[in-house]
Amino acid sequence: MNVADPIAAVTDADPYPYYRHLAATRPFHRDAALGLWVAASADTVAEVLAHPDCRVRPTAQPVPPALAGTPAGDLFGRLVRMTDGAPHAALKTVVLRAMAGIDLPAARLRVRALAAHLPRVEADDAHEANRWMFTLPVLCVADLLGLPLERDEAGHVSTRVAGFVATFAAAMSPLARPADVEAGAVAAQWLTRWAGENAAPGGLLAAMAQAAGEADIDPATLLANAIGLMIQACEATAGLVGNTLVRLGRTGEMGEMGDVGDVEQLVADVARTDPPVQNTRRFLAADATLCGESLKTGDAVLVLLAAASHDPAARADPADRPWTFGTGRHGCPGDALARLLAAVTVESLLQRDVNPRRLLRGLRYRPSVNARIPLFTPSHY
Ligand code: HEM
Repeated sequence: MNVADPIAAVTDADPYPYYRHLAATRPFHRDAALGLWVAASADTVAEVLAHPDCRVRPTAQPVPPALAGTPAGDLFGRLVRMTDGAPHAALKTVVLRAMAGIDLPAARLRVRALAAHLPRVEADDAHEANRWMFTLPVLCVADLLGLPLERDEAGHVSTRVAGFVATFAAAMSPLARPADVEAGAVAAQWLTRWAGENAAPGGLLAAMAQAAGEADIDPATLLANAIGLMIQACEATAGLVGNTLVRLGRTGEMGEMGDVGDVEQLVADVARTDPPVQNTRRFLAADATLCGESLKTGDAVLVLLAAASHDPAARADPADRPWTFGTGRHGCPGDALARLLAAVTVESLLQRDVNPRRLLRGLRYRPSVNARIPLFTPSHY
């Protein structure tokens, strides 16, 4: 259990004994070295996420300083994920309605059809797995939004949009370097122009725009949140795909994975036991008593979703939503779609003979403070 702290746990080879220990022995504590309060049990995680004074951004800093004043910062500041209070509630209603309107069985067929038009470009399994994890789910969300995907003369779908989305997502990370932030600004501009000019009338974006108009949400904010759906789908779903491939590599189950039901069940289990989003943060907007402790305005809480998932004292109800999707006001509205997208991506990789056991040879995790996303090393490196 040689895990240094809850941030190092995110990318540790096996952080779960450490998380279980924290949940059992220090369910809510202050980590002086990190300068953060830490919620580590199912009960404390739920309490923090439900507390009205626990906000998704520090009050004085709605946009991270590195992004502020750039097109990336403008997009960031409009996202439902990054907003609280009345603007959040209005946007969340629009987003929830849009997600509820997705016909999942029809979406499954569309993703499979899209997958059929993504060629295998490299013989190396690791390369293909890395590429697909970050492209197919995002392309599918773009397609559902009614945005046009480019195709080449052979009918192969271009992955360009997914590249811009991944670039923007990387710029949002606290680990982003100045060059990443600069690239994120370019990506934000490209995505805003492209999505703003190309939405098809029958797609989700058009439906969201209509609902937003009725709710007095301005068009730029609505557009940002349509792009936000692709951004939310990017890293977390890539992590769910990758962690499922790791599980398959370890258990050697892929031989029996005949039908998609099995893959979807496996994905649901991985979302609980090796979750892609391991933590989230909250910032106190007022002095408050939280989990029996006195917190001050501006204090930050690291909310260990992955520890809640492994808390032995938590109720083991298989119908419960996996903790990795959060809970409360900011809970993920895309969880069902995320599981479907991850399952189809895994299924497609297996159909293209990607062998999960071979992927384990070069397994690392992408540097991240909150997302557990495998990075498979191609064999020629
Ligand atoms: C495995 C994939 C995914 C995981 C693990 C995940 C996880 C999460 C988590 C933990 C949050 C809440 C963060 C917080 O409370 O601080 C969240 C919010 C959100 N997610 Fe997901 N997500 C995934 C995929 C998706 C997809 C595919 C979509 C949509 C297409 C989506 C849309 C959103 C949106 C719009 C929010 C903001 C909700 C709000 O702030 O009220 N997510 N997600």
